[in-house]
Amino acid sequence: MKKHLLPYFCITVLVASCSSSNAEQIPTVKDHFKDDFLIGAALPVRHVDGMDPKADSIVTLHFNSIVAENCMKNEKIQPEEGKFFWDDADKFVKYGEDRDMAIIGHALVWHSQLAPWFTKDAVGNEVSPDVLKQRMKDHIYAVVGRYKGKIKGWDVVNEAIVDDGSYRNSPFYRILGEDYIPLAFQYAHEADPDAELYINDFSMFLPEKREAYVKIVNDLKKRGIRIDGIGMQSHIGMDYPEFDEYEKSIVAFGNTGCDVMITELDMSALPTIEKGADIGAIFRMTPEERREALKKFNVYPDGLPEDVSKEWNDRMAQVFALYKKHSDKISRVTWWGTTDGMSWKNGFPIPGRTDYPLLFDREYNMKPFMQKIIENLE
Ligand code: G3I
Repeated sequence: MKKHLLPYFCITVLVASCSSSNAEQIPTVKDHFKDDFLIGAALPVRHVDGMDPKADSIVTLHFNSIVAENCMKNEKIQPEEGKFFWDDADKFVKYGEDRDMAIIGHALVWHSQLAPWFTKDAVGNEVSPDVLKQRMKDHIYAVVGRYKGKIKGWDVVNEAIVDDGSYRNSPFYRILGEDYIPLAFQYAHEADPDAELYINDFSMFLPEKREAYVKIVNDLKKRGIRIDGIGMQSHIGMDYPEFDEYEKSIVAFGNTGCDVMITELDMSALPTIEKGADIGAIFRMTPEERREALKKFNVYPDGLPEDVSKEWNDRMAQVFALYKKHSDKISRVTWWGTTDGMSWKNGFPIPGRTDYPLLFDREYNMKPFMQKIIENLE
């Protein structure tokens, strides 16, 4: 069921710092959607370090939720067994607390950005099920426990299923089988009984993934294990997904009784090379193939042509119309970043492209589709 949005929205924003003597009332994205869903942004460390003051102003004004883009991932926070690096995650949490935001933790159990030691023994073989269980428990207890009462919800398990609907052959799956998912949720709940717990993946519009996740979630619920939300990452493109499949997933996930969360929204304006967000795609090409792909697929290095920009904005307006239509099911829409210049999409699946996937452009201007929405012109 939808959560209480109340603590996270402010009714009106008075921008006292504007040059005119009268405080100017301006519409904000979070206020516009205050009765619908939270509006979030993924933040890199440099943002919370104050190295991008303009992006800071944007986030403070328009967003009421944040998620850690990288600093809470396993390899960052526990790079060696028992040696935790908390500085960046602490700063991230403080940033959200100072602004009274809904703070989301990402991600507790994920095959990627996993510290190499985590699933291996001293000679590099995979550890036994008991050892991995203990390491998962220790990691989750330490991380969730440290931020108990501060983090609204955790991406507990990330990217567990591949496109055909089967389990990803991750070390977690190889060592523990399907049980690693309920175990991770159980440990997270023990560490902070009040925190919301989510399962999260990309390409959630695929029927096979939809079916697999509905089954996983229903099984967890049947076993009495807490799960609050299903995260649809939503790294999308101009040619995918088809809206009816995307909508079917929103509805199917909502029907499980979980909140639906759009957790990592961005839409590439460039020709699609790789659907989804499997970071491994970066390494599947040879340097020569990458150079060739860069020539062919980096089509707007000097700015987005007007017709493409219009197409992007029209499509994003449709995406938000869909979210609004299902706002009874969707509790949060989080962008995977703030401005086009800082998006991971500039480096995926080949480095060096200039992409335009986010809500604000490289000059910190809000994209026209959202400007129209919040000024009630649509
Ligand atoms: O921190 C190091 C830095 O010390 C080093 O100099 C630099 C050189 O390459 O790399 C830096 O680490 C990079 C890190 O981002 C921080 O910028 C990694 O190489 C790079 O691989 C990493 O990419 C992140 C990616 O996850 C890794 O899987 C992206 O920023 C991040 O946006 C992306 O986020 C994921 C979500 O967690 C899960 N869903 C898909 C999404 C997009 O891939």
